[in-house]
Amino acid sequence: MKFYRQLALIYLTLSMTGGAVQAIEQDTVEDLLRQMTLQEKIDQLSQLGIQTTPTGPVIDYGELSPAPINTVGSVLGAYGVEQTRRLQEQAVNQSRLHIPLLFAFDVIHGYRTIFPVPLAEAAAWDADLAYRTARAAAVEATASGVHWTYAPMVDIARDPRWGRVVEGAGEDPFLGAALAAAKVRGFHGAGPPDRSFMLATAKHFVAYGAAEGGRDYNVADVSERTLREVYFPPFQAAVAAGVDAIMPSFNELAGVPLHSNTALLSDVLRNQWRFTGLTISDANAVWELSQHGIADVPGDAARLAFNAGIDIEMVSHAYRGFLPSLVRNGLVPVAAVDDAVRRVLKAKQRLGLFADPYRYSDEARQRASVLTPQHRALAREAAQQSIVLLKNTDALLPLPKHLRNLLVVGSLATDAQATIGPWSAQGRADDSITILQGIRNAVAPNTEVVYLPDASPLSQKVQNLPAIRQAAQKAQVVIAVLGESADQSGEAHSRADLGLPGNQDVVLRALLDAGQPVIIVLMNGRPLVLSENVQRAPALLETWFLGTEMGSAVADILFGDVSPSGKLPITFARSVGQIPLYYAHKNTGRPPREGESWVSAYIDTPWSPLYPFGFGLSYTTFSYSTPRLSADRIASTDTLTVQVSVTNTGQRAGDEIVQLYLRDDVASVTRPVRQLRGFRKVHLEAGETRSVSFTLDAQDFALLDEHWLPVVEAGRFTVFVGADSTTANQAWFDVTDSRALSETGLSRPP
Ligand code: BGC
Repeated sequence: MKFYRQLALIYLTLSMTGGAVQAIEQDTVEDLLRQMTLQEKIDQLSQLGIQTTPTGPVIDYGELSPAPINTVGSVLGAYGVEQTRRLQEQAVNQSRLHIPLLFAFDVIHGYRTIFPVPLAEAAAWDADLAYRTARAAAVEATASGVHWTYAPMVDIARDPRWGRVVEGAGEDPFLGAALAAAKVRGFHGAGPPDRSFMLATAKHFVAYGAAEGGRDYNVADVSERTLREVYFPPFQAAVAAGVDAIMPSFNELAGVPLHSNTALLSDVLRNQWRFTGLTISDANAVWELSQHGIADVPGDAARLAFNAGIDIEMVSHAYRGFLPSLVRNGLVPVAAVDDAVRRVLKAKQRLGLFADPYRYSDEARQRASVLTPQHRALAREAAQQSIVLLKNTDALLPLPKHLRNLLVVGSLATDAQATIGPWSAQGRADDSITILQGIRNAVAPNTEVVYLPDASPLSQKVQNLPAIRQAAQKAQVVIAVLGESADQSGEAHSRADLGLPGNQDVVLRALLDAGQPVIIVLMNGRPLVLSENVQRAPALLETWFLGTEMGSAVADILFGDVSPSGKLPITFARSVGQIPLYYAHKNTGRPPREGESWVSAYIDTPWSPLYPFGFGLSYTTFSYSTPRLSADRIASTDTLTVQVSVTNTGQRAGDEIVQLYLRDDVASVTRPVRQLRGFRKVHLEAGETRSVSFTLDAQDFALLDEHWLPVVEAGRFTVFVGADSTTANQAWFDVTDSRALSETGLSRPP
């Protein structure tokens, strides 16, 4: 009988006996470890890359030595019941100890049903929604044989030139931490033994978003304080939520690439944060230590990466090639190899793969779980919640469904691939509702919809301008769908110019000159720098890349079935020269003030953003009372309740995202002018008032002292509650004593 079957039998026999199961399961891992040769152990630490092609996954044997499937521990890029079952059979039947494979895949914002890209979904400011879309993605992916996702991507990004800004939750550590934790919980669901439990990975550790010049993979050079206050919190939240793996980032920090960074991977992650899960390199990144110039030969790269704390090497094969001799020569401790292998085997055990290696590859479950009507409905809801209304002069929006005619312009209006954006896993453009389809489906039968594809992000050529102008003159309303194509953001797709690419601005000018009302629907993976023409338009919707149901959701907003409620998770700068620009900046000794000289500003452009963090309009309006505090003096051990009344002062129901910011007015180190410390989405009928309250405590008041330990310092704080990060609606309180907090790190996951 095969070894794994024996184990399965033991597992099943004892599965009724509660505590005994854990012991037996533990024995599985230890028994295996005892039987494994050194090479077999190192095989478990190697991940084979399989390329995703339109016809399915294809094995890529990498550059060093071909790795037969039965000599690796995990595979990247395999999916689908048929493929995963076939590979699993090979691994289990053709290896001496019959150890099953782990199948990993980048399930970032959906598997087959595609949800909004993470930056878009962050605009919903809704942890429950983030949970539900991750859950749906896990249900689909695990039904298709996938065990492990390389998500959530929790890198804070304050530079929209960086293409990967699309993959994260934007610029703020508090919002980022809340969404990171929700995503991890969503991928987990009820947890094992449920077959929709999926291993999650927080990536890329750390400060990848600080790439200089916004150029992907570039050096990040951030201070220790910025690292800990800005870039750590989402990772800490993911660890606290039980994330299964951490992936280091491609960049270096202070001269040490993350893939050889013992201080961060071992001292911080393992020793301080007590992370017990897996660490996995990024693709080829162990190998690339030689490009960084710190490893002479691939063997050095393997030694540095492994000894720094990376368990599994993804795609490249330096571990397979060199770890055995490094162990034999005493340069890598065998006990550390055992620990890493133990973590890999335990992950397989949690997934129940020793009991049944094929339990995630179930044809009937795959058929029943993928692209279901429920998942499509969730995709539509998520897309609606992610849209941000940036401008709506004279309440031009929502449009009536009965119109004489409507002119839709722009190739993006029919670009189904752009709806699903980058990192779209098994998403298919064919499944998507484009914006033009969404509009056509929504309008009354007698509304004529004319479509001109002529504005394109991919072509500089301007054709048909007279015809475009003429069509615009005849139109009752023009909807210009403008922005980026799916591959103008994402990994290795940084941009130095953040304007509308291609010929779009020229076409837009012609549309505006025609004199009819122009509504701009922006589709993009990053905050763009909006040209004067864009700003001339009376209405502006930020719709990002919203996934499979994009077109329906955009139409729901355009025609008023849903009132927009999204708020920007990242600042929109006026010009590239202002970048990095973020709301939680420091005051400086000469705070910027518009129109004044000798202050921290520019002489040729305002210092402030075009649209600030947290900004977003609705079809209704809201007013806020002054915040009421439970006390104006509290001890550092006390909690403080902040209450505000929010009233819907408009004519229709709507959702408002109420935001709370805090400023430590005087401290031993400089503090940001304000920091988000709470947010809540409330639904208000027209005329309705609701009281919203937040509770703050020492975790919110704390800062890191010179030893990087959290302390609360006595003194005055300002609390702001309002509709965005510029709100002036404020109140004050004093903390009466100073106190060191026991926990390491700053942020409790919200
Ligand atoms: C990316 C990772 C991703 C990996 C596997 C890398 O290029 O940086 O985010 O998980 O590829 O696809």
